[in-house]
Amino acid sequence: MAEKYFITGAQGCIGSWIVKALVERGDDVVVFDRSEDSRRLRAIMQPEQIDGVRFVTGDITDGAVVRRALAESQATRVVHLAGLQVPICKADPVSGALVNVVGTLNVFEAARTIGVNNVVYASSAAVYGLNDDDAVLDETAVCEPSTHYGVFKRANEGNARIYFLDHGLSSVGLRPLTVYGVNRDFGLTSDPTKAMKAAVLRRPFHIRFGGATDFQYVADTAAAFIACADKNPEGAQIFNLHGETVTVKRITDFINEVSESALVTFDGPPIPIAPALDDTAIRRFIGDLPSTPLETGVRETMDRFAALRDAGTLDTTDLDA
Ligand SMILES: NC(=O)c1ccc[n+]([C@@H]2O[C@H](COP(=O)([O-])OP(=O)(O)OC[C@H]3O[C@@H](n4cnc5c(N)ncnc54)[C@H](O)[C@@H]3O)[C@@H](O)[C@H]2O)c1
Repeated sequence: MAEKYFITGAQGCIGSWIVKALVERGDDVVVFDRSEDSRRLRAIMQPEQIDGVRFVTGDITDGAVVRRALAESQATRVVHLAGLQVPICKADPVSGALVNVVGTLNVFEAARTIGVNNVVYASSAAVYGLNDDDAVLDETAVCEPSTHYGVFKRANEGNARIYFLDHGLSSVGLRPLTVYGVNRDFGLTSDPTKAMKAAVLRRPFHIRFGGATDFQYVADTAAAFIACADKNPEGAQIFNLHGETVTVKRITDFINEVSESALVTFDGPPIPIAPALDDTAIRRFIGDLPSTPLETGVRETMDRFAALRDAGTLDTTDLDA
């Protein structure tokens, strides 16, 4: 029987890919987001697929609204992604905390009172700071976030643990790092994806950071969220996600190679998050998870951008901003 998934923040990047994957396998989806702008869903789904999705417009900071929406959805699975990214949390920590921390509490509170027994939520590798060595971090590594955003995500992990201790509400928190692919269009770590789009449009693009980071293809990130929601485990689990740890130079060179140009450049310090995550724990827990090689993911992304360009529907507001 088809499950029903309530997905917050699903007008965003990772959420759009989760919605696509769920609709393609025949599940029911309710999107909860404060935005009514479905351009990311349109970029990767057919109109008739989107027609089958139910949309609820609401603000995650309003607990009553979240509770009502979840109750009316009759969903059995909750995936919580709604959140503000690093730059907004830096510029406005109070709004950041309201959306990222209070908003997450609202989702847990709604699940608890309605009787949904598991919440899968987006934490982040930003719970780690930048480490001095090249250590590959597993979930036992010390968390010393270097941003408000990372502190908020860490607080959510703590609150999730307390919901299990106090109420038996289970959860899985996932920690992605640099997700890339169509629809990744906001925040510093979206620069590599913007560079792919710019190259397809034959426009120059400068990536504003260097060093190495952990790149994961967005379809793989989405698959991990869905697998955890389906597994519906007991306890308060937290897992790293990992794609490939590579230098920004390597991804820059590869984009230029695919586009047969030198349009993409990069420069700047590494992002302040440890660049290599160990994902042994989730792979042991879930078993088979997709792991798209970087070159394949970049080519697929550029092919999708090219198809949207040729159809005249490629959104360039992120490049023009
Ligand atoms: N993309 C990454 O590389 C990455 C890495 C680590 C963690 N994450 C986390 O994963 C989640 C999804 O990331 P994404 O890249 O899809 O983000 P995104 O910015 O593309 O999407 C976030 C969505 O949340 C919605 N939203 C924001 N404030 C809201 C509010 N007050 N009420 C309701 N909806 C609201 C936005 O409208 C948007 O659709 C976020 O929690 C993010 O912090 C992302």
